[in-house]
Amino acid sequence: MHRLPNTKLCVLLLAAVGLHAESGYDGWLRYAPIEPNSSVPAVVTTLGDSMVLESARQELMRGVRGMLARTLRVESGMPKGSAIILGTLARIQQAFPEWRLAANLKPDGYWLKTVASGGVRYTIVTAANDRGVLYGVFALLRKMAIGEPIGDLDEQQSPYAPVRWINQWDNLDGSIERGYGGRSIFWANQRVREDLSRARDYGRMLASLGVNGCSINNVNADRRVLSPDFIPQVARIADALRPWGVQAVVSVDFGSPKTSGGLDTFDPLDARVAAWWKAQAGELYRAIPDLAGFVLKADSEGRVGPSAYGRTHADAANVVARALKPHGGLLFYRGFVYDRHMDWRNLKNDRARAAYDNFHELDGRFDDNVVIEIKNGPIDFQVREPASPLFGALEKTNQAIELQITQEYTGQARHLVFLVPMWKETLDFDMQAGGAGTPVKQLVAGKTFNRPAGGFVGVANVGLDENWSGNHLSQANLYGFGRLAWNPDLSAQRIAEEWTRLTFGDDPRVVETIVRMQLSSWRTYENYTGPLGLQTLTDITGNHYGVAVEASERNGWGQWHRADEHGAGMDRTVAAGTGYIGQYRAGVARVYESLETCPDDLLLFMHHVPYAHRLRDGRTVIQYIYDSHYEGVDRVAGYVREWKPLEGRIDDRRYGEVLAQLEYQAGQAQVWRDAVTNWFLRASGIPDAKARVGNYPGRFEAESMTLDGYTVQAVTPWEAASGGKAVACAAAQCTATMRFAGAGGRYTLRVQYFDQNNGVSRFRVWVAGRLVDEWPAAGRLPSRRIDAASSTRRAITGVALHPGDEIRIEGQPDGAEPAAIDYIEVLPEPERSK
Ligand code: GCU
Repeated sequence: MHRLPNTKLCVLLLAAVGLHAESGYDGWLRYAPIEPNSSVPAVVTTLGDSMVLESARQELMRGVRGMLARTLRVESGMPKGSAIILGTLARIQQAFPEWRLAANLKPDGYWLKTVASGGVRYTIVTAANDRGVLYGVFALLRKMAIGEPIGDLDEQQSPYAPVRWINQWDNLDGSIERGYGGRSIFWANQRVREDLSRARDYGRMLASLGVNGCSINNVNADRRVLSPDFIPQVARIADALRPWGVQAVVSVDFGSPKTSGGLDTFDPLDARVAAWWKAQAGELYRAIPDLAGFVLKADSEGRVGPSAYGRTHADAANVVARALKPHGGLLFYRGFVYDRHMDWRNLKNDRARAAYDNFHELDGRFDDNVVIEIKNGPIDFQVREPASPLFGALEKTNQAIELQITQEYTGQARHLVFLVPMWKETLDFDMQAGGAGTPVKQLVAGKTFNRPAGGFVGVANVGLDENWSGNHLSQANLYGFGRLAWNPDLSAQRIAEEWTRLTFGDDPRVVETIVRMQLSSWRTYENYTGPLGLQTLTDITGNHYGVAVEASERNGWGQWHRADEHGAGMDRTVAAGTGYIGQYRAGVARVYESLETCPDDLLLFMHHVPYAHRLRDGRTVIQYIYDSHYEGVDRVAGYVREWKPLEGRIDDRRYGEVLAQLEYQAGQAQVWRDAVTNWFLRASGIPDAKARVGNYPGRFEAESMTLDGYTVQAVTPWEAASGGKAVACAAAQCTATMRFAGAGGRYTLRVQYFDQNNGVSRFRVWVAGRLVDEWPAAGRLPSRRIDAASSTRRAITGVALHPGDEIRIEGQPDGAEPAAIDYIEVLPEPERSK
C-alpha cells in the first residue's frame, strides 16, 4: 500500500534541508540563517535587571540562535572573555570605570560600541534607559541580518522625536475600523481577549522599530474603556506591551463625564467635569502607572465635543490634559475636525480649510502636555494631498503628524502601495514657517519652535491574520513608518531594501525586484485611482475602496473634485477660490496660487482648470488622465511579470500569496482605468488621442451574450461595469454563451465577475463542451452588491480556441450573491518561441 510519510518525518526532513516554513508572522524579525560571523561573542552579560532588559537579552539570544545557530551563554558579573554587554550607560560606567565610556545619550537613544580591553573585545549595547538598550539590541541584530560589519562598532543613534506612537482603531467587539488584516489582537466580544500572545508579539515588532506607545482602541471611542470595572482589562493589554517598552494609550470619548460619570454635563469648564477627568485618570494610573496618555477625537464625524457648550478645542484639550499631567501623561487631541454637512453648492466652502480654521487661532492656548495630532494632508489620507497647512501654523503648541499605515484609501492591503515615498514627500516639505528650511518633520518633532513633545503617530490597524497586515507586502508600511519615526532622513530606497532583505532574504534578484516594485507602487496606484490631485476617486461614503467617480460630489462631506463637462478641480486660490492656499506661509502660498508654478501632481487639488489646460509636459489634462490610467494598469501587469521569476527564490507560500494578490490587483487596476477614463470621456466629450478609451478589442459584454437564466442589470454607478451593465442570476444556475469567431490559436480568457461578500457563487467556463476552469467567488471584498469593489477578474491561460467554438460561462449563485458577470475578454497569447 502507498503510504504518506507522517508529519513528524516531514518536519524532520524540512529541518534537515534548512527550509523555513514562512507565514509572514515573523515579519522582518525572521532571523534567518546567515554566514558564520566570528565577531559575535559567545557570552551575554546584562547589567541591571528589568522587564525591558530581560526582553533585550532574550531577543539577542533569539536572534543569534536563529541567524548563527548558536546559543549565547548567559554570565553575570565581569565576563571572563569576549562578551556582549547590555546595560544603561550609568551601569556600564559603574561596572567598568576604566573604560571611561562617556556620551550624551537622549532617552531611548542607544550606543553600540566595541571596546578592546586587556586583549579582549567586548560588544557594548548601551543607552540612557533600558528601552534604549532594547532598541540597541534590535539595531545590532538588524545589522547582522543585513550583513553590516559589527566587529568594530561605534554608533550612536537617537530618535528624531520623543513620540513614536501607533494608533489601533480596534473596537471592543473585535472588529477594527478600517482594518484589513483580520480581527483585533486586543479585543473580542466586548472584552479583552483571553489570549494576548499576539499583543505581546506586536509589542516586540513595534519595539524593533523604536515605537514607544500604542493606543489600543478606536479613536471613535467606546465610553466603556473608562468605566472602573473595565480598567483591569485595559491593564492586561498594557501588561502585554510593557516588556517591550511600548506604553499603552487609551482613546477616550469626550462625553464620558455624562454618559459614564453620571454628571448632567460634559462642559469642559465645569469644575465637576474637571474633577471627574482627574478621578478617572487617577484610577487608570493606579492600574497602569506607565500609561502614555489619551487620544481624543472631539467634534468630528458625530463625536461630541466642546462645541456643545460653545467652548473651544483648547478648553476641551486642557481639561483632560490637566487630569493626565500629574501622572506625566500626554493628551493627543486630534486635528481631524470638520463639518460633514457642508453646502456643496457654495463654491467658497472647503473642507480642506477645516483643520487650520479650527486650530490656528488657538495656538498658545493649549497646555504643554497637549499634542495636536494632525493628519498628513488637509482632507483624509487620500492618495495624494499637500501637507496640511496647520503644520506651519502652530508655534506655541505641540504637534504630531498622523500617518495612515492601514491602506484605507490606498488599496486596503489588496493593492501593493508602499507609502514611505508619499510620507517622505510630506515630511520633507518645507512649510517655510519662521523662514525657509522648516520641513514638516522638524515642526512635528518640536525642533523648529522648541516644543517639549511631539512626533509621529501611525494608524496601523494590524489584526489576527497570520501576516498581521492582510498582505505580505503591506507589512513594509508598518516597518517604514517605524523607521521614519525613528529617523525621517532615511531614504525610501534604504527602508525598502532593509525591509526586503530582512523579510525575504538577500538574493539580489529578489531584493532588486521587490524594491523596484515598492518604490514605484504609490505612483502606480495614484495613476489609476486619482491623478493630478483629484484625490482617490472612490466610494467615499461607503467602503472607500472601489471606484465611484462622483461619490464625492453633491454631498456634504466636502471631498469634492468638481469635475464636470468643462473641467475639473477645486479652486482653492486666494484670488478666486476658497482661499485655502492662503493658509500656507507666503512662500508656499505663492507657489500653489499660480498656475505657472503649482506642481502638476497637485494641480486639480488647488485649481479648477478646463480639460484642455496644458501640463508642463505639453499634454492636456484630459489626455493625462487617460494616459496615466493606462500607464498604471500596464505597470501592475508588469508587477505580475516581474514577480513570477522569483518562484523558487523565496518560499512557496509567500510567493504564491503575493502572486495572487498582484494578479487580483492587475484586474482591479483595469476596473479603475475603465471606470475613470470612461467617466471623463463622457464628461468632457474629448476622445482619447490614442483611441483606447471605449475601445476594448477582444471584450464581449455579458449582456450581449446568449443568456439562459441570466438577466441584464444596470449597474450603479454606471462606470463600475463595462457598458454600465452586468448580468445577474436569480435561478439555481444560469449561463452566458458566445461563439468564438476569431482565428484558431491559444488565448487567455478573462472573466470579469462580481465577488460579493454575501455569498460564494461558483463559476464554470466551458469551451467547445470542455470544462476549462471553475472557481468559487470566495474573496474577502468589501461589497454586498454589484459594483466596482466586488468586480474581480479571473484569468484562464493557454486555452486553445478554434473558429466557431462555443464559450460558455455557467454561474451558480449562493446566498445573496447572484453570480453576476460583467464581460469576458478573449485575448490571443503571444507566440512562444520554441
Ligand atoms: C477616516 C475614516 C474613519 C475614521 C476617521 C478618523 O475618515 O474613514 O473611519 O474614524 O478617518 O480619522 O477619525
